[in-house]
This record gives sequence, structure tokens and C-alpha cells, in this order.
Amino acid sequence: MRKQNLTMNILVLGSGGREHTFAWKIAQSQHCNKLFVAPGNSGTDAIAENLNISVTDFVEIKNVVLKNDIQLVVVGPEDPLVQGVHDFFLNDEELKYVSVIGPEQAAAELEGSKEFAKEFMMRHNIPTAAYESFTKDNVEDGYKFLETLQPPYVLKADGLAAGKGVLILNDLAEAKTELKNMLVDAKFGDASTKVVIEEFLDGIELSCFVLTDGKDYKILPTAKDYKRIGEGDTGLNTGGMGAVSPVPFATQEFLDKIETRIVKPTVEGLKKDNLPYVGFIFIGLIKVGDDPKVIEYNVRMGDPETEVVLPRLKSDLVEIFQAMANQTLAEVDIEIDERAATTIMMVSGGYPEAYEKGKEITGIENVEDSILFHAGAKMQDDKVVTSGGRVMAVTSYGKTYQEAIKKSYQNIEKLHFDKMYYRKDIGFDL
Ligand code: AMP
Ligand code: GLY
Repeated sequence: MRKQNLTMNILVLGSGGREHTFAWKIAQSQHCNKLFVAPGNSGTDAIAENLNISVTDFVEIKNVVLKNDIQLVVVGPEDPLVQGVHDFFLNDEELKYVSVIGPEQAAAELEGSKEFAKEFMMRHNIPTAAYESFTKDNVEDGYKFLETLQPPYVLKADGLAAGKGVLILNDLAEAKTELKNMLVDAKFGDASTKVVIEEFLDGIELSCFVLTDGKDYKILPTAKDYKRIGEGDTGLNTGGMGAVSPVPFATQEFLDKIETRIVKPTVEGLKKDNLPYVGFIFIGLIKVGDDPKVIEYNVRMGDPETEVVLPRLKSDLVEIFQAMANQTLAEVDIEIDERAATTIMMVSGGYPEAYEKGKEITGIENVEDSILFHAGAKMQDDKVVTSGGRVMAVTSYGKTYQEAIKKSYQNIEKLHFDKMYYRKDIGFDL
């Protein structure tokens, strides 16, 4: 890799609010020369050059990397990682000197397979829910296992299912039917060839974000997201309707437990198991009593958690990425803004089910003292129009999270598009 005082051309893969936030932060770095986002959105269009290619089209990615002399690639979503984009770079003579932020395929299985993640946690004594996994060949054993558990029953499709693969059911008969639907009738396609059945953990959730270069790690601020579409955490699961950082109930004592019991053994476990990891580890946690337990690993940042975590990072993100790629992360100081950050997601009416696109978004120029991170939004004839379910995240800072949330709501009221919806209760449970 190049020396740290050089500037470089950088490519961010993805098109959501997370990627706009990455681009926003990278664009502030003195080490960034030209910034590209593929495919990007209307937000990244204003601060970078959007390249209209798919995040899993590795051949096209290679072409644009070579053509634009890109030296650093930051992978936003999980799909390219699970499909081996980092390995693709390492195995290519022309690409192997390009730094990639994101784990190699073997390590990306931590998100790609729930069973793999559970086995990893068992091997390294990382606290998580008790579980067993089943395939269609032993579905009868799955029914019997369910009978030994107390409701609610937690069924998880082993593979990637776009955030929809987890079912939590109160009724035993229904749990058995769903297990059959997943295993025998391929409810989630190949993703549910295997199903993990888990002990239900009762508690409040939060997420912890870790940077690693495969040797050392740095912990970023915690965040809590609001996954359900409806107020009071009701209704269908979404990608996330809002987020708060830091998480007020995560005391120093609790954070210390997370570090000793979960973060350290995770990074040590990656080394012991030879799972090459240069990237973000997103650890979904649940606080059961006073103890943290792992619900899941993701091998990327969260969305909309990125929209509150990166704005609180004062350090130069490109310097951090360079250190990760050079395996000198231990030498880097991570400076965090003391202020709270919150974000509220504006979504298309109907989301997470069917919704309309192409609605013009107005009022953007009236937003003051909040940052708008575009997600499912694109430019069309000089107008910003909706192009997805989650449309924009309105992020604000405050001395307290309450102050930050108030600002986000004041600004969200200035924005409009037909059938716009957002939750009015983000932070209600804190
Ligand atoms: P996941 O896709 O693994 O993050 O699961 C989606 C959601 O299901 C989590 O955010 C939790 O709210 C819930 N969940 C998953 N596993 C459990 C568990 N063992 N006990 C309680 N809730 C769970
Ligand atoms: N907001 C949850 C996720 O990114 O998976």
C-alpha cells in the first residue's frame, strides 16, 4: 500500500444511507483525491461520481477500478462480501494491490450462515442463545426440539434472506408449520435449506461496531436501531426506521463486559480460525439482565446505524482505512464526538411491503442543523425523487439524544413527498 500522506482515489460500493454516510465522511478526508460510489444515489451524486454498476458485478467493478486508478474499495452491503469480492481482488494480478475494506469470503460466512456464526461462538465461548440446526432430512427432530423449548420460538433461515429470515412465533403448532415451510417448501429459497432454532432471549437490543485489521481492533460507539415499521416497536420488520448513538443504558461497566466477553474473543477467534478480516464487525447484542449476549454478527456496518456512528467519529476515516489495510490499526487513535447523534428514516408509504416510487421530494433546501443522508432517492431531471422504501435519514447532533431527536423531527417536518411516512417515537424506550 501507499504511504499515508498520499491522496488516493476511493470507491464505495452500495447505494443506501449507509453509503452516502461513508461518502460524506470520506469526502472530508485530506487523503481522498477522487471519490466514486457504485451505484450510489442522489446524495452521493452531489459529493462523488456515481458509477452505474451493480455491487456484485465483479468484472465491471474491476474495469472501473483500473480505469479510474482506484486504490481503496469500501464495501457497504453484505452481498458482495459473502460472494467473495475481497478474494476476487486478492486473486487478480491487476487488483491485488488495491485495498479492500471488508472481510474475505471465509470470514463473511459469519453473516452468510447463521449456523457458521453459532458454531464460531460456541468454539470461542462467546455468550449467545442455545440452539440446534436442522435440514429437511431431520425436520422431525426439529419438531421434537421445538417441543422442549418454551415459547416464543425463534426460527432462523441459515442463509442471507434480506433481513426477513427470522421468525418469532408464540404458538408451537405454528412454529412447526413454519419450520416445515422453511425446510421442506423453501420459504426463503436456498437460504432456508438449513434452519437454526434458538432459545428466545428476553431483553433490550443494542449494537456494537468494531474495526479490525485482523490483528487488533478498535471499538466504535454503540447504537440502537428501531427495526419495526410501527410506533411502539410494532408491525413488520424493516431495514431500520431510526437510530440513536450512544445507547444510554450501555454503561461503562456493561461496555467492558462487551469488550472482554465478546469483542476480544471474536477477534481472537478470527485469528485462531484463520478467517481473514479487514473491516467492520457489527455485533447485534441483547442485554439479558446485566449481561450482553450475541444475537447475530454482520460483516459490514448497519444501516441506519452508520448514519449516527460515523457522524460521531472525529478521526479521519481514510487514515483509519489505510491503517486497517496496512495492519497498523493498533497505532491509530479513534476520536469520538461527545455529542449524541440520532437519525430518523423517512420511508415510502406501504414499505416494507409494496410502495410506489418516483415521488418528488421537496423541502430539502429548508433543512437546517441536520444532515440529510439519502437512501432510496435519485436524481431525475434536476429533481430528487424516491427510488426505494427507505428514502432519507435525517441525522442530528445534540447534547442529549432527546435534543438531537427534537432537531431531526423539526427538520423532517420541512420535507415532503407523496405518502411519506416516518416513526414519531424514535428513542421512546430509552
Ligand atoms: P437477526 O436477523 O438475527 O438480527 O434477527 C432479527 C431480530 O430477531 C433481532 O433483531 C431480534 O429482535 C430478534 N431475535 C433474533 N434472535 C433472537 C433471540 N434468540 N431471542 C430473541 N429475539 C431474537
Ligand atoms: N439496521 C440493521 C442492519 O443494518 O442490519
